[in-house]
Amino acid sequence: MNMKSIRIKAPGTVANLVCGFDILGMALKEPFDVMEFTLLDKPEIIIHHKDSFGLSVVPEQNVAGVVLQSIIERMNNTIGFEVTIEKRIMPGSGLGSSAASAAGAAVGANYLLNNIFDTNELVQFAMNGEKLASGVKHADNITPCILGGVSLIRSILPLDIISIPSPELFITVVHPQIEVKTSDARQILKKQVLLKDAIKQWGNIAGLVSGLMKNDYELIGRSLEDVIIEPIRSILIPGFDEVKKKSKEAGALGGGISGSGPSIFMLSNNFDTANNVEGAIQEIYNRMGIAFHTYVTTINTKGVEIF
Ligand code: HSE
Repeated sequence: MNMKSIRIKAPGTVANLVCGFDILGMALKEPFDVMEFTLLDKPEIIIHHKDSFGLSVVPEQNVAGVVLQSIIERMNNTIGFEVTIEKRIMPGSGLGSSAASAAGAAVGANYLLNNIFDTNELVQFAMNGEKLASGVKHADNITPCILGGVSLIRSILPLDIISIPSPELFITVVHPQIEVKTSDARQILKKQVLLKDAIKQWGNIAGLVSGLMKNDYELIGRSLEDVIIEPIRSILIPGFDEVKKKSKEAGALGGGISGSGPSIFMLSNNFDTANNVEGAIQEIYNRMGIAFHTYVTTINTKGVEIF
């Protein structure tokens, strides 16, 4: 029996970055999942959980399981994996919980196979997990989770991913303790957009990418506007408008829904401001009597890593 083992960290991610629905994402230093893998010499998948979320241990019903299955099939069913998953990113938080399981599984398995697959192949494997979780293959959480930093997914078919350089950013995240399923948050979206809204949106996407590449905090801030998705999804998030308003008053550059929510993220250009933003948000949810959890963190530039 081959007992080669590895332990990795898979970071949480903020998908969409407000205006870039399904095409932009950023990796976070906190929170992250921990996963341990052992390579097996027969084609089986054994899943253990070290958390209390009650996720399935049946490979076909588990995000990491379906990713590992696709890798085993690519290896002509000559190998298998035992995996222990400790989720610290709450499922349904909007912080890329399913992507961390999917990307972590792809990268962890690849390490045990001496890194035979390239990044594009890892993203392809991991998208099988996103398909199980949300019904749709999207790579805006997976790609930054694997690579770290900010990613642009210019195209899924064919896959075309680009790392975007970024200035230092401080991220305040609030996770109101309600669960929003990505599949539900996608279901409620309109299937068509008005041309005038599309023009605004692609102006903002281009502005955001330019702002990141030019270290222009003002441009980043004014590009964090979403006229297509946010007006619909924000209805699911209690206190959303007030969080945005008070965060900007506290000095945030801007922000919005993290992925499909309910978490909200705000970007700041220094740590003190990010802490002030956290205080402003805490005040809102304490007053509303809604349980919440906050993080003040920075960009994870390494992606999934062994530790
Ligand atoms: N782009 C996806 C969505 C991310 O907004 O539905 C889900 O985390």
